[in-house]
Amino acid sequence: MHGVEILGFYDLTGVVRYLEGKTSGIEMHMEENEKILEESERILDFKDVKGQDELIEAVVLAAAGGHNMLMVGEPGCGKTMIAQRIPTILPEMTEEECLEVTKIYSISGLLPNGHTLMKYRPFRAPHHNASLNALIGGGANAMPGEVSLAHNGVLFLDELAEFSRRTLDALRQPIEDKKVSISRVNGTHTFPSNFMFITAMNPCPCGYELFYIRI
Ligand SMILES: Nc1ncnc2c1ncn2[C@@H]1O[C@H](COP(=O)(O)OP(=O)(O)OP(=O)(O)O)[C@@H](O)[C@H]1O
Ligand SMILES: [Mg+2]
Repeated sequence: MHGVEILGFYDLTGVVRYLEGKTSGIEMHMEENEKILEESERILDFKDVKGQDELIEAVVLAAAGGHNMLMVGEPGCGKTMIAQRIPTILPEMTEEECLEVTKIYSISGLLPNGHTLMKYRPFRAPHHNASLNALIGGGANAMPGEVSLAHNGVLFLDELAEFSRRTLDALRQPIEDKKVSISRVNGTHTFPSNFMFITAMNPCPCGYELFYIRI
């Protein structure tokens, strides 16, 4: 990481000894950290998807332009599995983007075990029963919601027709402004919310109809 000097310590005693000038500070080799990060390599891949050439072409176009997308199709045609794979074809995050995502996950207490940096674009798929606070952000201490946890990545609303109108309306502002402000008695907190918005649904409640794609 440019502009950041990283020293590795096994424990706080090592930090204290370093601050007292008793050690050079390099107790842990950084390759060990890299190894931990590499273990998180994603296992999802578009090669698992059979057929659906037209849909995949649309997905590639949407990913290239950062467009939002609605997939409408019958049950089991692969909408969810394709949506889950979209972050894998987005460009790698810049260092600045990695830090933005890491900060959001850090304050939310969601940094995966052993990780110091979020290297991959997030994929968030909140359930249609998720509360507005969980989606937009909120709570007593104004924590980031799903729109911010998906920042620089993908927010996927599966079974879009099951989401309430109130929930969908609440998404308008974060999508348009790419940031969300949450006011609480102790102040106003602004979190970024710049994500690719991917949605999927069946054509009707029974599930079956002709398949089509709309970007
Ligand atoms: N095109 C495909 N290639 C490979 N496997 C597929 C494909 N489509 C579906 N499958 C398999 O079927 C399973 C169900 O697919 P998926 O959940 O993506 O369907 P869906 O379109 O989201 O259905 P639903 O409308 O019920 O949510 C997948 O986990 C995968 O194993
Ligand atoms: Mg599905």
